[in-house]
Amino acid sequence: MSMKHIFQQGTRQEAPTLVLFHGTGGTERDLLPLAKQISPDSSIISVRGNVLENGMPRFFRRLAEGVFDEADLIFRTKELSEFLDEAAIENGFDRDNLVAVGYSNGANIAGSLLFHYKHAFKAAILHHPMVPLRGLTLPDLSGIPIFIGAGSNDPICTPQETEELQELLSGAGAAVEVHWERYGHQLTSTEVAAAAAWFQKQW
Ligand code: MLT
Repeated sequence: MSMKHIFQQGTRQEAPTLVLFHGTGGTERDLLPLAKQISPDSSIISVRGNVLENGMPRFFRRLAEGVFDEADLIFRTKELSEFLDEAAIENGFDRDNLVAVGYSNGANIAGSLLFHYKHAFKAAILHHPMVPLRGLTLPDLSGIPIFIGAGSNDPICTPQETEELQELLSGAGAAVEVHWERYGHQLTSTEVAAAAAWFQKQW
């Protein structure tokens, strides 16, 4: 399958490759500056969501705000996983050394990849994620560090939902750290700086 994407070769072979997932209405260019702040020497694979909602790119369909089309979400999660397998071969990056960076809808698809595949990512930075799916048995995520950036007054992903996601991921063994902000659903520069500091502590 093909997905519109950008690949940028990094300068340090062992550094994890960052996989970038934009928010609704975004493109594969949006998170490039963030990636440079998180890990300047990493390779980057940045993907554009394959679904359009009134002309706005997304990673999966939704029936309404906050109500996901679960069949499409599952289909798109598999499509992305296969895309990453192929992109790794094509661009020569290590499929087993990927760190996801997603915002909003992009954080939700990255979360869904973690919910479905044990080896999706080595770590993840999720900015304002929701619980992508309920009623699933998660794979063993032990040893996987996950940063969640959340808003105590985020109307789209409520603090309760952030805590539910944290519990689901921790319950599967992931080492989850939640960073709270007070700017609604916005991705602020202080949240990006916190994510970068968290990343640099791991690597
Ligand atoms: C979603 O649809 O994934 C969430 O509501 C976040 C967003 O607005 O994209």
